Amino acid sequence: MGIMAEVKAKARLDIKRIVLPEGDEPRTVQAAAAIVREKLACPVLLGDPARVKETAARVGADISAIEIINPLDSQKAAEYAWTLYGLRKAKGVTEEQATRLVEDPMYYGIMMVKMGEADGLVSGAVHTTGDMLRPALQIIKTKPGNKVVSSSFLMDCPNKSLGHNGLLVYSDCVVVPCPTAEELAYIAISAAETARTLCGIEEPKVALLSFSTKGSAKHDLVTKVQEATRIAHELAPDLALDGEMQFDAALIPEIGASKAKGSAVAGHANVLIFPDLQAGNIGYKITQRVGGAEAYAVLQGLAKPCNDLSRGCSVEDIVTTVALTAVQAQSL
Ligand code: ACO
Repeated sequence: MGIMAEVKAKARLDIKRIVLPEGDEPRTVQAAAAIVREKLACPVLLGDPARVKETAARVGADISAIEIINPLDSQKAAEYAWTLYGLRKAKGVTEEQATRLVEDPMYYGIMMVKMGEADGLVSGAVHTTGDMLRPALQIIKTKPGNKVVSSSFLMDCPNKSLGHNGLLVYSDCVVVPCPTAEELAYIAISAAETARTLCGIEEPKVALLSFSTKGSAKHDLVTKVQEATRIAHELAPDLALDGEMQFDAALIPEIGASKAKGSAVAGHANVLIFPDLQAGNIGYKITQRVGGAEAYAVLQGLAKPCNDLSRGCSVEDIVTTVALTAVQAQSL
């Protein structure tokens, strides 16, 4: 069974309520209908019900069993605005601004998750990554014990000898442009958790990547990765984690054995931590486009799961992201 079939099977075991703020967007409406058909989650669409239903009729989607909430006339809006004001007044948000903000489906959806009225959120077919991330960072915040929200890409590679039966977790490829050593350590620990929750990798092997393996090169950039490795060991002493190491030393047993002797991770890594966002983002795209891997993205480190889509997403991308979000919600 492929990774997404496994994720979907897990999602079906405990149905979660997932809010879709872009409720009148055609692909989102089609995806919501498919999610109900496949029994993956209980989707909630936000928007003007007349417009949502008109879109559904136009694209031939059956949304008769799906709840639609209009943030502009919701009975919860006042409560959400008051809570949002309480959370953000120290940052200069006024009561009036909070009232206006919850009329925006993105903020309304985030508040539903915050207040426990949805288990997770998926958005981004229309909004940019930043539009979706900022309210999640400001309101949902990080999980207890974590300081950084980041992302992982689940890379399902055709070469099944790599990682965990061809599955590799790449992090961070979306969120933190220039992580400090401490942030990199938190990213590594979050990615290991993602590997356990979503990929069924019970004992993740985490490699912190660099252009150097175990001191083979000297540079400030290498020192940062070494420092991140030290901090991550302190934060998660039981995690199989090692660094700094080159990509090939992390993945290929013979190279790992020769360049990083005695490492339990080198040559067998299934979670790969990139030193910054440029490396991570370029790395996942090379693996996808040149290596022929399927790539599935999730955010990690948030107190409750919220996930972003690419604006070029397909209906199936939305369906799979909802399934991933539901499985993340099950693990809380
Ligand atoms: N983890 C936890 N909290 C964070 C993080 C983080 N990684 N980043 C910001 N925050 C918090 C801040 O502390 C702040 O909290 P506060 O308001 O309570 O004090 C709040 O979030 C807003 O922070 P800002 O610094 O004002 O946010 P910023 O405008 O820098 O936006 C963002 C943050 C959107 C994540 C930014 O770092 C960013 O644009 N990252 C890159 C996104 C991107 O374009 N990715 C690549 C494309 S996606 C793809 O290819 C698949």
